[in-house]
Amino acid sequence: MNISYKNLKLFTCGTFVVMLVAGFTSCGKKDANSPGFEFMPDMYRSPSVENYGTYIIGDDTLNSAMLPVSGTIARGYMPYVYPNTVEGYEQAGLYLKNPIALTPQVEKDGEVLFGKFCIHCHGATGAGDGKVAAKLPGPPPAYNGPLKNLPEGKIFHSITYGKNSMGNHASLLNTQERWTLVHYVQKLQGPKTVAVDSTVKAVPTNTVVAKP
Ligand code: HEC
Repeated sequence: MNISYKNLKLFTCGTFVVMLVAGFTSCGKKDANSPGFEFMPDMYRSPSVENYGTYIIGDDTLNSAMLPVSGTIARGYMPYVYPNTVEGYEQAGLYLKNPIALTPQVEKDGEVLFGKFCIHCHGATGAGDGKVAAKLPGPPPAYNGPLKNLPEGKIFHSITYGKNSMGNHASLLNTQERWTLVHYVQKLQGPKTVAVDSTVKAVPTNTVVAKP
């Protein structure tokens, strides 16, 4: 093949210009996520399914995070049937009983939990004189004062849902821990002065109080 010096120069320059143009245009900033031109793109990228994404594959819509079938109950989770209403509170007071027997260990565990989650508001003896209590719009009433005859069901209900400036503890303490705390609160209440709940409010007559 007879390649002249002039042709070779032209060819080299041409190649250089093409490379230069390709070099500047292939990394355009039009779409930062674009991989640019892919030579033989087979298997470069897998069709991965990310968490919490929705993907349409053919005619199917795939949600990678699916809600459980309705009515599903997680292992170890005990559904709580009383709603966060005045009626629910009264019903809990009437029918809800502590499933955990009181043992010295339960009392000890209750004290530890109380020290971590409650003492800063309620105080060590439950008198409502914790360090945070003074900052609240109204300090918690004393367990062995106005709350002395509060029944176990209401104690559990209020720990579960919270009450006014006391927050909801259901996401912090599991069912067993909340019942353990009920025992400890009862210890701080001391012996009841009356057999019945003195805090009971009249349930509206049009409300059906159903025993679960
Ligand atoms: C942010 C402060 C705060 C914390 C933390 C707190 N409480 Fe309370 N608690 C209160 C206040 C305030 C009240 C009074 C609510 C009302 O009746 O308005 C109260 C009320 C109660 C009552 C009475 C509920 C009723 O039905 O009348 C119980 C029982 C109780 N708390 C237990 C606990 C336990 C157990 C813990 C720890 C898991 C806890 N509290 C954590 C502030 C707190």
